[in-house]
Parts: sequence; C-alpha cells; structure tokens
Amino acid sequence: MSFTPRVFSGVQPTGNLHLGNYLGAIKQWVRMQHDMPSIYGIMDMHAITVPQNAAELAACSRQTAAALIACGIDVSKSIIFVQSSVSAHAELAWILGCHTPLGWLNRMTQFKEKAGKQKDMASLGLYGYPVLMAADVLAYKATHVPVGEDQKQHLELARDIAGAFNRAAGAEILPLPEPMILPTAARIMSLRDGTKKMSKSDASDYSRINLTDDADAIAAKFKKAKSDMVEGISYDEESRPEASNLLQIYAALADEPLAKVSDAFASSNFSSFKSALADLAVAKLSPISARMRELLVDPDELDRLLASGRDRAAAIAAPVMREIKQATGFFV
Ligand code: TYM
Repeated sequence: MSFTPRVFSGVQPTGNLHLGNYLGAIKQWVRMQHDMPSIYGIMDMHAITVPQNAAELAACSRQTAAALIACGIDVSKSIIFVQSSVSAHAELAWILGCHTPLGWLNRMTQFKEKAGKQKDMASLGLYGYPVLMAADVLAYKATHVPVGEDQKQHLELARDIAGAFNRAAGAEILPLPEPMILPTAARIMSLRDGTKKMSKSDASDYSRINLTDDADAIAAKFKKAKSDMVEGISYDEESRPEASNLLQIYAALADEPLAKVSDAFASSNFSSFKSALADLAVAKLSPISARMRELLVDPDELDRLLASGRDRAAAIAAPVMREIKQATGFFV
C-alpha cells in the first residue's frame, strides 16, 4: 500500500537551539517543506523525561517556535505546534507501547547513555521515550523524518513498531517512516572535543554555537575551538576530528561540497580558517537571531500561531487515531 508523503520531525524545547540542530535537522526541514506537507513539533513531552523547570519550559517552547520560524519554516505552509497540546501523542504512545517488546527498548543506546550507571533510578518515561517518538510520527502517518544521525536508531525502532502494529492488526495501517539523514552535517561535533556530539546539555557554552549568539560570541567560540598541530587544514575524521568538524560546519553553512572547502583551505592555518568560518557563521546566523528577537517581541502572536498549529495537527491526527483505535478494538 502506498501512503501520501508527509514529513514529521521535532526538536526538544530545552535550552537554545544550536548549530548542530540547525545544520543536521532544521535546514533540511526548511528545504523539505516545499516538497511535501510538513509538520514540525516542539517536543515538550520528550523534554520532561529528564527534570525540567516548569516555569521555564513553556517559555522555552515559545522561544523554539520563534527559532523555527526565524530559520525559515513558513507557517502558512507547514505546521508548527507544541507536542503536549495534541493528545494523540500520549494516546498512541500507550497503544504502541503494547506492541513494543522490552528487548527492543533495551537496545537503545541513548537510554543507556542518559540513564548512566543509575539505571534503576531512570524513569519509565525516559525508557519509553522512543515509543513516544514512534507515536509522534505515526499519529500523522508521516513517511519522511528528517533528523540528525543521533535519532537514527529511534527511527529504526519506529519502523519496527509500525510493522508490529500492522501485523497485529492484520492490515497495513501505518507506514514505515523513512529517516532522512544528511551525508554531511548529520553529526556536528563539540567545538571543545571533536569526538563528542555538539549538544544542548554540554556544561561548556564554548562547546556549541547557539542560534542566539551574537557576532562577538561566535568569533570568540570559533577562535577558542580546539585545533591540532598538523600543518594545513584537511579532512580526516580519525586523526583530525576537530579540523574535520570545522570543515563540515563550513561546507554545510556555505552549501558547498566538503571536497571543495577542504581544497580551498588546504594550505591555510587554523587561525585564518577559523576567522573565515566565523565570518561565514555570522553572515548566516545573524539574520536568524535578528528575526528571532523580532518575533519574541510579540509573544501573543507566537501563541496564536502555536494554537493554529495545534488545531491543524490535531485535525490530521484525528482520523488516523480513529482508524488505529478501531483496529485495536477500542470502543469508538
Ligand atoms: P533534539 O531536540 O535533541 O534535536 C533536534 C534535531 O537536531 C538534531 N541534532 C543534531 N544534528 C547534527 N549534529 C548534532 N550535533 C545534533 N544535535 C541534535 C537531532 O538529530 C534532531 O533531528 N528525540 C528528538 C526529538 C523528537 C523527534 C520526534 C524527532 C521527538 N519526537 C519524532 C523526529 C521525529 C530529539 O531529542 O531531538
């Protein structure tokens, strides 16, 4: 059976969005919204799988909406909404959880990393996180999911869960969603350690470029970025993780092939390469942060856009949920 193409993806409203989120995911979203109907979620139910400050979370959701619009998501075309405002996510997560063997969840590397040594203290929510992710995508029968590489395992699980549901229902009700992962920028690394992913949760703000950083902060962070002692700039993930990461960032920001960028800087030193990279990043990011500031001046308008996104998302999920509940034997 073929399903109508639809994009779903999401981002957690925890702290500022960074260059990894932008280059690995959001830039793809901006492009894909022209090809297929697209839904982008601000995933606050995922955020509470680790402790959050309740007073800050809603403000962060609004700020994330501003960031997505500032990056180029067009709300007259695509849907931006807050996950917890559409009840289908929680409802479907329960149903899909009943089709997910524990053995599948036990393989999830992100749970192992996040739970750390104190596995017994981790919450059921953190453990079930990938089931909620499957529900996010499948509540809209989304077929394409643009994400960074760290989400690949979760989406493979979403495909397995959709398959298990279909087998139990004896009908092809749910699509097997396709992860869309860019060849470059799938995994932007920390500026302080080229072997660690750039992340919102890194204690050092110097490890990442935030979409809200001003020109001085961007320049200072690239200047301080870890480098190595090898002459010239070249791409070799194994032996030169930091140089390789900076080259990837440059290529992704400039929309140029990696080979072209590494040729151009082959005989540069780190200092001149970093300063060219900072100039490029400022040129690309400052219009985004300026637009974000403008949008945040009018929180009521953002709330109105999110309410409209919620209604549009809920209207798409409603018939899907009816079909799923019927196939489950629920009284509808
Ligand atoms: P989150 O909020 O951690 O990240 C949002 C998106 O940014 C990508 N990303 C990166 N890409 C490249 N390099 C990096 N250093 C980097 N850091 C983050 C992520 O891969 C992601 O695409 N569980 C998800 C949110 C989510 C979701 C979903 C995504 C919830 N439900 C359903 C897709 C479909 C998350 O925590 O993303």
